[in-house]
Amino acid sequence: MIPSWLAPTCAIIGGQWGDEGKGKIIDFLASQFDVVVRATGGNNAGHTVFIKDQKHVFHLLPSSMLMPKKVNIIADGVVIDPVVLLEEIENIRTHGFPVESLFISINAHVVFPFHRILDAAQESQQNIGTTGRGIGPCYTDRVARRGISVMMLLDKHALGIALMNMLPEKIALLRHSGYDEETIRRSFSTFTPENALTKSILDKIRAALDTGPLLETLIWTLTEVYHELGMRLLPFITNTTIFINELYGRGKRILFEGAQGTFLDVCHGTYPYVTSSHPTVGGIIAGTGFNHLYQTLLVFKAYTTRVGAGPFVTELTGLMGETLRNAGNEYGATTGRPRRCGWYDAVMARHAALINGSTIAILTKLDVLSSLERIFVCIGYKYTGPVVVADKKYEPGMELLTMPPSSLLHHCTPILREFPGWQCPISHVKTYQELPADAKAYIKKLEELSGLTFKIISVGKERDETIIRS
Ligand code: IMP
Repeated sequence: MIPSWLAPTCAIIGGQWGDEGKGKIIDFLASQFDVVVRATGGNNAGHTVFIKDQKHVFHLLPSSMLMPKKVNIIADGVVIDPVVLLEEIENIRTHGFPVESLFISINAHVVFPFHRILDAAQESQQNIGTTGRGIGPCYTDRVARRGISVMMLLDKHALGIALMNMLPEKIALLRHSGYDEETIRRSFSTFTPENALTKSILDKIRAALDTGPLLETLIWTLTEVYHELGMRLLPFITNTTIFINELYGRGKRILFEGAQGTFLDVCHGTYPYVTSSHPTVGGIIAGTGFNHLYQTLLVFKAYTTRVGAGPFVTELTGLMGETLRNAGNEYGATTGRPRRCGWYDAVMARHAALINGSTIAILTKLDVLSSLERIFVCIGYKYTGPVVVADKKYEPGMELLTMPPSSLLHHCTPILREFPGWQCPISHVKTYQELPADAKAYIKKLEELSGLTFKIISVGKERDETIIRS
């Protein structure tokens, strides 16, 4: 049954640093929608869905791919690594799920091997803690107006010219990062993990690089290989902007699947420790060309995690952090990296609500806190740095209830409030009323502090371990 508060077009956006459990929520809500659209990011995302104890991780495919009768769309704002996408499609197919319902934007941009290689090279200088999937360098090319779109993969001549214009600069950048010719050759020969699907691609690149001069060989081979990959994607390619707007015109209910989280937004996040796209609601509109979005649902974990480097005010580095990591199985779905863990941060939550214009939210992984005797929530920050005059005057000892500029965050410590834990399992609970009193008190406080109402509360990883409020 469709809850009365759920709008016919709705975006699911991460309220923290990604990994809020959006995959499960999208999978859960998708039954109420006809169309699911992925609008931003690339295969840096990892959305985990459990169905009957079987784990499915999607990096590029919308999380609704396993549901019958859905239209699944990868829109213009996404950057697509065709090797990864074709692998995911093949994987779904071999598990017996239909793939004909998938549509890919002609205007999405393509992640090439040199994007991944550059990501690794730049990472060794910048230490952002990226996923190493080439996302930043690909978006950089797009913004610099020299990127290669899905459309261009289909036109071998145009693709060859684009690569001819692009590759000398990429090689120069790699050399500038200290890569010699041998390392560059090796990097292109091993840019993706070798498996049944990627072997033929890697073999082609290796064979060519074994004999030919570096630049010419790369231009020629990547043109051949990526044109072929583009042709394999052709059955799925369409103008998704027109298609989504048409579907809306036909009265279809549309769910927009956010990737990453608000504080990884290149404009609004903890810059420079962010991704290179807009995981906030603005990214959904820019990334689809659709502007009839009625609702934005923000997703928050009942605590906070982040992967990669950057400030994290409520981080718990000791035993408590380890306890949360183990209880919540907090390891990256894309890279397997252990996630940094900390308490729920209401300053971040209020800011996320502001940026995304949300009043309704979703709380996930509440069950992870079930064994704790005491739970803490960050209600404000104490500034401990030097005097800085910025949007206001920051002085040591000052209490902050709103987000300071991200460069000052590492000078902030959390002001914590303590709550009693409920200390009993809750994954079987089906209604809000049945939750233990202390769990309800915790949720109520988070709502008050964040200015949000949690309409869905996830109490376990399975689809049916989800409480929905009227
Ligand atoms: P990139 O998106 O790979 O460039 O990584 C930039 C930052 O965003 C790093 O801190 C990554 O760990 C983080 N990041 C990117 N994608 C995700 C995600 O899906 N979940 C959580 N963190 C992410």
